[in-house]
Amino acid sequence: MNTNLKPTIDNTQTGYESFKIGNFTFDRDEYFAYISCPNGEHMMSIDAFLRAMMRDVAWGFFYGTVAFDDVFGTTNHYGNVDVFIGSQHAEWTKAERDYLENFKSDELMDVFKALLSDWTNEGFDPFAAPQETGNAWGRNNGNEDKLISRQREVAKRMVGIPGDAPLRSDENGYPVNRAFADVDQSQPVIEAEPGFEGELHAYNFFAFLSRSDVTWNPSIVSVVRQSLFCPTTEEYILPIDHGNDRVEWFIQISDEIVWDIKDGKTSAPLATVTMRAGDVSAQPADIRHQGQSPKRSMLLVWENGSPEIMDMIKDGTVPIVPVTF
Ligand code: PHB
Ligand code: FE
Repeated sequence: MNTNLKPTIDNTQTGYESFKIGNFTFDRDEYFAYISCPNGEHMMSIDAFLRAMMRDVAWGFFYGTVAFDDVFGTTNHYGNVDVFIGSQHAEWTKAERDYLENFKSDELMDVFKALLSDWTNEGFDPFAAPQETGNAWGRNNGNEDKLISRQREVAKRMVGIPGDAPLRSDENGYPVNRAFADVDQSQPVIEAEPGFEGELHAYNFFAFLSRSDVTWNPSIVSVVRQSLFCPTTEEYILPIDHGNDRVEWFIQISDEIVWDIKDGKTSAPLATVTMRAGDVSAQPADIRHQGQSPKRSMLLVWENGSPEIMDMIKDGTVPIVPVTF
């Protein structure tokens, strides 16, 4: 039996480069990405692959595992990263087809960035909702380096404080999204007592979110010690299946997201959780989750930025749930 999935890729026809790191090879053609390793091959639709790759690159491999699908993904060990095929899938590991290799973060990042740049065609924005962008298909045609190098807002204290990450406005290129035309755009009036000018800050959080030009890409809008508020606007499908390495909280601010929850180690389905506006959930640290948002919605992801957590993850003492009764 021929177990090769990958057709003979003729890069002279498609114009795409192939990329290699360690024993992994990445190829694309007009519709698919192909990942090869010594134990086998895996193929993914190129649009889903590029959307996932965009998040892995933009978030510096994120917290824990970024699964592109049930088979392929990366796990961040903060300084070095595992790239795996099948390692978090019960059937692949049972068949001993799984393969994992560890790379220095910056070396892997260089390859992923070059791949994303070469494989993203003009007109395709991997951060955008499908209705707000062109498509990823076809032969190599230009690039979108400007779009794929966008940096999300990362506040040091809170967006809008002079010197910190700016608020969004028409003037700086963030019009209100079509789905949030009814969101009040007025800013709060700040009246500080004499002597406290410059020490008080407030901003219209809903107006800020209504102007997000991307989907599934949390910004950090406020930092209070280790508490990071990471709101985002969501539409269609979270391009990654996130296997978090610590508890994380979701607060659904508007509309509705349906979360598919799977076992982090085996990819076995565990639950489907529908979150409506006002719903709050704590996502355990041993699962993976992927959201589906039928309409553009507002979600607050609340992350724990504790520096001690890295060591607790390494020695296996990090709590899996936020509270044990
Ligand atoms: C998550 O994996 O928790 C996550 C990532 C990106 C989002 C929302 C949630 O936009
Ligand atoms: Fe997550």
